[in-house]
Amino acid sequence: MQSLQHQVETIRTAFSYINRFKERIFVIQIDSALIDTPIFPLLIKDIVLLHNMGIKILLVPGARVRIDEILSQYNITFTTVNNMRITNPEAMPFIKMASFDVSTKVMTLLAENNAHAVIGNWVKARSIGVIDGVDYMDSGLVEKLKIDIIQNTIKERLIPIFPNIGWSATGRPYNISSHELAFTISKELKAAKLFFITYSGGIHAGEFKIPGGVYVEDNIISQLKLPQAREFLEANKNVSKEIDYELVLLAHKACLAGVERVHIIDGKIEGMLLKEIFSNRGLGTMIYSDPHENIRPLKHADIPTILQIMQPLIDDKILVPRTYTDIEAHAPDYAVYEVDGTIHGCCAMHHYAGNQAEIAGIAVDHVYTNLGIGKKLVRYFMDKAESLGLRQVFVLTTQGIDWFSNLGFSRADPSILPVEKQKTYKPDRNSHVLVYVFKKR
Ligand SMILES: CC(C)(COP(=O)(O)OP(=O)(O)OC[C@H]1O[C@@H](n2cnc3c(N)ncnc32)[C@H](O)[C@@H]1OP(=O)(O)O)[C@@H](O)C(=O)NCCC(=O)NCCS
Repeated sequence: MQSLQHQVETIRTAFSYINRFKERIFVIQIDSALIDTPIFPLLIKDIVLLHNMGIKILLVPGARVRIDEILSQYNITFTTVNNMRITNPEAMPFIKMASFDVSTKVMTLLAENNAHAVIGNWVKARSIGVIDGVDYMDSGLVEKLKIDIIQNTIKERLIPIFPNIGWSATGRPYNISSHELAFTISKELKAAKLFFITYSGGIHAGEFKIPGGVYVEDNIISQLKLPQAREFLEANKNVSKEIDYELVLLAHKACLAGVERVHIIDGKIEGMLLKEIFSNRGLGTMIYSDPHENIRPLKHADIPTILQIMQPLIDDKILVPRTYTDIEAHAPDYAVYEVDGTIHGCCAMHHYAGNQAEIAGIAVDHVYTNLGIGKKLVRYFMDKAESLGLRQVFVLTTQGIDWFSNLGFSRADPSILPVEKQKTYKPDRNSHVLVYVFKKR
């Protein structure tokens, strides 16, 4: 009975994650050393499961191991500098062969699982050139992606596979890093998640200097919030050529560019990808930006600024009039969204009897609307309400009905309001009541 209950709980958790990630974009880079392991077909099976759930998957298989094999087979020698292969023109046809061989292998496994994929030449690249006197020859950097074609491909529910080759405007092929490629794809497509599935696991604490407050388990760094990742990069500049350093660097850049989370996980452990996504406790290294990073409590000195942001909305009767004294009286209820010392928006949550609260006074400076600030402010308070164990949160609005509905609120009758609020409800204003009821835990 107990194990059945456990299964039900697992299914519930999985469904909540499925809803959260449906239609979102996951970019997955796979270490080339995993491709010939017996576990690799299982990894592809799990990737197909995610695809079948409606998650948009883009795959970037690494080819380093296969390239090494083919070059040694044809007795072609090469050198690496700073972890990068110097690609001489003689080697390039073999590198192309190896990259496409790996991509085809991935495509075949996808086909075995009834998933349709396409390998493409969607990457424009340019030569790295000469750095510190070293000529990187046909090794290249990602310059641009054919975003529209890639978007159409995922819209058609195909899985795009990116070989680690890019082409110049004149069609000259370059050998590019699959890590850098995966990062660029995730950045350009505003992916929800970027995965680096490695042969060696998450980021090893090893000899790195670890910022305070960072949790390390079995020598693997568990999580790095964006400021911690920045600190890590600063403190370990002397080993910037280490592959783990490079991954943190790319992850940091990806989060700055809007990717929500970057996961660096061990591909040798069966089911690791699913565990990382469908459990609260990830098992590799997760690097992420804190969605509440720019939000802080209101200070008294902010009141004139937020009144200034609110005033045009009060004039248009979108917001209920508020004075300096009103806001001051409820100052602890307010939070502001601030970037580089400038307030872009504000919001409040007022508590009521019966374990409920009201979201009120949300206003985003018109210069900064449609940048996700309003959503972040509401989510900040929703997280707070949930952590306080509140039963429900409601809002009264005349112009934000659809906006709050998109955030999961439902229309409700004014009778659901706390008695105290019902007394001040103004029927002539005719505000709609919307409510968000938290699931019982
Ligand atoms: C409504 C408001 C809080 C939204 O904040 P924001 O930071 O601009 O919004 P976000 O960036 O989080 O969300 C933008 C999305 O919501 C949509 N949106 C904005 N205002 C909307 C509204 N009133 N109704 C429905 N959708 C709306 C945008 O079109 C955009 O859609 P997209 O993501 O599909 O492009 C802000 O525009 C504002 O201050 N408005 C005036 C005050 C107000 O109406 N408050 C709500 C009533 S209390």
